[in-house]
Amino acid sequence: MSQARKIVILPGDGIGPEIIAQATKVLLAANDQFNLGLATQSCAFGGSAYDETGNPLPDSTLAACRDADAILAGAIGGPQYDAAPRELRPERGLLRLRAELKLFANLRPALLYPELADASSLKPELVAGLNLMILRELTGGIYFGQPRGIEQRDGERVGFNTMVYNESEIRRIALRAFEISRQRDSRLCSVDKANVLEVSELWREIVEDVAKDYPDVELTHMYVDNAAMQLVRAPKQFDVIVTSNLFGDVLSDAAAMLTGSIGMLPSASLDESGKGLYEPIHGSAPDIAGQGIANPLATILSVSMMLRYTLHEAKAADAIEQAVSAVLATGHRCRDIATGVANEQLVNTQEMGEAVLVALAAGASA
Ligand code: IPM
Ligand code: MG
Repeated sequence: MSQARKIVILPGDGIGPEIIAQATKVLLAANDQFNLGLATQSCAFGGSAYDETGNPLPDSTLAACRDADAILAGAIGGPQYDAAPRELRPERGLLRLRAELKLFANLRPALLYPELADASSLKPELVAGLNLMILRELTGGIYFGQPRGIEQRDGERVGFNTMVYNESEIRRIALRAFEISRQRDSRLCSVDKANVLEVSELWREIVEDVAKDYPDVELTHMYVDNAAMQLVRAPKQFDVIVTSNLFGDVLSDAAAMLTGSIGMLPSASLDESGKGLYEPIHGSAPDIAGQGIANPLATILSVSMMLRYTLHEAKAADAIEQAVSAVLATGHRCRDIATGVANEQLVNTQEMGEAVLVALAAGASA
């Protein structure tokens, strides 16, 4: 057999290790079932890495991630790190990993499972069949722009950041957006704040320019404040949304809630070659960490995205998604997605993971 493909696993903090344990079981089961030839390795990352080594992204972890074919991450952060030096906070480790690996394209699908229509905060008819994709630029914009800081000016402190995009950064994310749109419903909405910000003016101009090569894709533009409103008013009007780092951060949390729970949504962060970091959209949820009740499905679905987008193992990805649908259909619910449906079985993190494994195996023998 050819050399094993390397998957680096970053459990992280809070509920991270709990959900990663379940997702890893599913990944290894798919590895056996579909002969994927994957080898996994776990590395320290986030606050727990900072506690151990003084660095949220230790050199050895970064090296392993560089060398990996794909990365699966849990979640990072927690209130105990609020007092850590800014440069060493868990979030900085994640941002640095995204930047070092040039993971500029962040895919955040918001897909409503029919079984969960009642878990949405919107009326079922507004969200039934919802399937939208937010493509967030991930390595530029105000998250990384210089200058940034907090300094003393005229006798008081001033905090500042810089929202900056160069043409090539806008062009490459726009290209990705049009390609993804083509594989879906060929409707792309670019979200900006071009009525106020110069950086958005340039964004819009470049997106328009890229659009010339995609006459088959319908392009619209929307200001971010209106987009936030439209997402909770009539979310099904969207197919693909492309937007900058900060706007995408905010809109993707709003979109997540439309689907019932942020505990359901996976994400992919891809570089130019298709290598990727896969992680749930949600955070480390310190309030429920250690209780074994977190929903592992977003992380399990991140495994399936990894199989689809980076490893090109569509069959295995389909099988995992079918297994997730099957456990939802049989009424398995973690607390965050419980709605009191007739066949509901309230399960904990581990039971949910086990249920997916059983469904995956059942799919194989069906
Ligand atoms: C996300 C998170 C991160 C971000 C944090 C943890 C740095 O909110 O992935 O959406 O802001 O990008
Ligand atoms: Mg966020």
